[in-house]
Amino acid sequence: MAEEKLGCNLMIIDDEHAALNNLEKVFTKQGCNVYSFDKGEDAITELRHNQIDVVLTDLRMKGIDGFEVLKQSKKISPDTEVIVVTGYATPETAVSAMQLGAFYYVAKPFRLDEVKQVVREAYIKVKLKRENQILKNEIETYKGKVNIITQNEDMQLLLKTARQVAVSDCSILICGESGTGKELLARYLHNHSLKAEGPFLGINCGAFTEELLANELFGHEKGAYTGASQLKRGLIETANKGTLLLDEVTEMPQSMQVNLLRVLQEHELLRLGGTRPVKIDVRFLATTNRDPKTLISSGALRQDLYYRLNVVTFELPSLRNRKDDVVLLANHFLDRHAAIHNQPRKTMTNEVIKFLQHYSFPGNVRELENIIERGVALAVDQKIGIEHLPVSVTQLIQNKIPEFKQLTELPTLKQQEKNYIEFVLEKTNGNKTAAANILGIDRVSLWRRIKSLALDTD
Ligand SMILES: Nc1ncnc2c1ncn2[C@@H]1O[C@H](COP(=O)(O)OP(=O)(O)OP(=O)(O)O)[C@@H](O)[C@H]1O
Ligand SMILES: [Mg+2]
Repeated sequence: MAEEKLGCNLMIIDDEHAALNNLEKVFTKQGCNVYSFDKGEDAITELRHNQIDVVLTDLRMKGIDGFEVLKQSKKISPDTEVIVVTGYATPETAVSAMQLGAFYYVAKPFRLDEVKQVVREAYIKVKLKRENQILKNEIETYKGKVNIITQNEDMQLLLKTARQVAVSDCSILICGESGTGKELLARYLHNHSLKAEGPFLGINCGAFTEELLANELFGHEKGAYTGASQLKRGLIETANKGTLLLDEVTEMPQSMQVNLLRVLQEHELLRLGGTRPVKIDVRFLATTNRDPKTLISSGALRQDLYYRLNVVTFELPSLRNRKDDVVLLANHFLDRHAAIHNQPRKTMTNEVIKFLQHYSFPGNVRELENIIERGVALAVDQKIGIEHLPVSVTQLIQNKIPEFKQLTELPTLKQQEKNYIEFVLEKTNGNKTAAANILGIDRVSLWRRIKSLALDTD
């Protein structure tokens, strides 16, 4: 019966050419992609650039020996399994090989059947490990399922466009005030993209010094500088076949902007201290809460980089410009906190809802989320009341409606009613439906009051 083809990427290292050729033939026949090397040095270089499943290495070689190959392989590619073969087998060497993480130790002369069997088992282990990893990533994605809550028309349209452009590989710039959901939208784009199965990584470009940022993004070769004792892959490389989010991209130093531009154009990068370009296939997303045009004119942002990143731009509206989402989002956060803490869901008093509808939310959705979280923690019974809101929110209205204690001349109820309705209309930009909602009366009653109080609705 014909044996099943293995399909394994197998590296064979032996400085004795006859043995090397022999094994190469045998395993090619088994259906392996064989990479043979007569020097440990060359083999290690290849390990850095190719995904090798199993390494079959001789122990005693000129230059770098099998132990060193084993050690390096575990460092560079921990999932790769290494089988050590030797003609000078002693119990001590066997123990050291196993301690260094070898899959198996084979003494020469060996039976070919035995080596074939060991390679097959090592390859099965590698495949299992990878499948496991994929499964784990899937669970992560499922856990981090992105849920953008909105009923606002502009946002609905934005999300529709986002789903359309997500499947192309173009770079996207997401603008918007702090807390408007830029990172959330980036995750949404990744999840709807063709790279959704790949990693989603992010870095805050404003949080690092120039050197650290370069190191994080591009990685370095071993010996690139004092202290660089090992090769380190940067985030761009690690995000291969996935998405990299450059958060606060406009905070990136100029010199780095040049390097990044090159990566975007060439689809390859040089690690620090490196000379051999590494090919990459990464989707770039970037965010900023500043106005890119102003930054270009001030020279902080390179125009060429801007054009590269900004193949598509999304401008997330502030929460105060989509007031229709406030209560919906507040309820969403109440649901979420109840679910996370496995507690019954708390509710807001009508008064709280009115305050929230009034508030301008300089910190946008994140601020609303914090307000709700705080309210849930402070409210001992099931209802979140005004007393559980931060003063920054409650002050807003109290500042406008004069405190009675400070008044020398006390207004009539009618006068006070007039003041308040005027104030609410001002807040809602004259939108009577919204004003009636806040006031807790219907539109007709509002009209009636406007007329009887002789209110100027302009
Ligand atoms: N439409 C939404 N639906 C549900 N949650 C949202 C929505 N928008 C934002 N959030 C939540 O609000 C918080 C802030 O969002 P995010 O971190 O994406 O904002 P950002 O614009 O990246 O903020 P910053 O500029 O401060 O980095 C997050 O917890 C996010 O999950
Ligand atoms: Mg963010």
